Amino acid sequence: MRMSVIGCGYLGAVHAAAMASIGHEVVGVDVDARKIEALAAGRAPFFEPGLAEILTEGIASGRLSFTTDMSAVKGAKVHFVGVGTPQVKDGYAADLTYVNAAVDGLLPYLAPGDIVAGKSTVPVGTAATLAERVIPTGATLVWNPEFLREGFAVEDTVDPDRLVAGVPAGDEGEQAAAVLREVYHPSVAKGTPFIVTDYATAELVKVSANAFLATKISFINAMAEIAEVTGANVTTLADAIGHDARIGRRFLGAGIGFGGGCLPKDIRAFSARAEELGRGESVAFLREVDEINMRRRERAVQLVIEGLGGSVYEKKVTVLGAAFKPHSDDIRDSPGLDVAVRLHGLGAHVTVTDPEAIENARRVHPQLTYVADRDEALTGADAVIMVTEWDEYRRQLDPEHASTLATGRVVVDGRNGLDPEAWRAAGWTYLGMGRP
Ligand code: UDX
Repeated sequence: MRMSVIGCGYLGAVHAAAMASIGHEVVGVDVDARKIEALAAGRAPFFEPGLAEILTEGIASGRLSFTTDMSAVKGAKVHFVGVGTPQVKDGYAADLTYVNAAVDGLLPYLAPGDIVAGKSTVPVGTAATLAERVIPTGATLVWNPEFLREGFAVEDTVDPDRLVAGVPAGDEGEQAAAVLREVYHPSVAKGTPFIVTDYATAELVKVSANAFLATKISFINAMAEIAEVTGANVTTLADAIGHDARIGRRFLGAGIGFGGGCLPKDIRAFSARAEELGRGESVAFLREVDEINMRRRERAVQLVIEGLGGSVYEKKVTVLGAAFKPHSDDIRDSPGLDVAVRLHGLGAHVTVTDPEAIENARRVHPQLTYVADRDEALTGADAVIMVTEWDEYRRQLDPEHASTLATGRVVVDGRNGLDPEAWRAAGWTYLGMGRP
């Protein structure tokens, strides 16, 4: 099927390449000429496992192309909208400028029977408003949220847990859902749940899924706070409650909390939208979720101070990790970088290392020192803090080897991913987050 993807950021670039990889003919459109140039040359503008391969294959097959020219969408049957919805500068709400611009830009090229499929995460009610603009063209708007995780974006797009389509009522909606089934035919044939619903539900599925995940992380971090004053071990606690299938062990990793381009902004935008709807109290707990999350960063800073005997001033602190999570070079709202910046603010000499995210981090926080090589970064450290659980740190860093590099013997485990016994045996003071 011929399709277009408007917006070639994380979501759009992966979506375009993934759709080409399952046999569709796809044109990706973005206003950013540099991004388009890179993608057209088969280069992923960010680190995402598997993306470079499907980009190159797609371009070589002739099924995948990229352009800044919106008129290239003419003739496509489905137009995906995957532009960003960042947090507004002066508040918590989602900024819909790019979504509005993308839909308005599409309007002159739409033909009756076309489908405009919104994928961006938007405040509930947005699709209904956009549909009014699309209806006069004879095209149909559907809302088809995306649940991809960075680091697994290709896999999540090609083989998702579920597909959701918010469609208008009646025959038009049924026909649109049938087209989406065709778009996602390999997943549908495999039996992936395909949920057809109204616009509002589809929009809410996305934000409520992220709100739930954020709440789960903050729940376990709240337990970590209690564990810290009682001597309990939050990791054992998570294992034990996680055995209850109703709870489940995933997303019960206590530590410095969640970050990234989605969870923080999405829960804030959800709170803002609920207030607009006069139902702020329904999701008032999300403010608490956000506050617990932010407190963990400060707790990590306090642990470094404690480990260094009361002050980090003029001490060399090595921060292992910069990306908001492993398998990503994304530093948007990275809790680990926030901790690094706070330590720097307290007068520490902060050296940051990361397998993928250093260049992005340097651009945003040039005041920190960046060293690509892990061992070089560890050399002379008075204290070490792991903030991103890359295998390079969690599995492959032998504490005995670290002892030969660092000057001090203090390690703060911001992700509860290190082996406390092994570090202690090598002579280190190990400080975890909610585990003694
Ligand atoms: C998230 C959702 O998972 C995805 O479905 C949605 O489409 C976009 O937002 P992503 O931002 O890629 O995906 O990252 P995710 O894997 O969810 O991690 C988010 C943050 O939570 C990271 O900072 C991670 O380190 C943190 N986290 C995750 C924890 O602190 N503890 C956990 O147990 C799990």
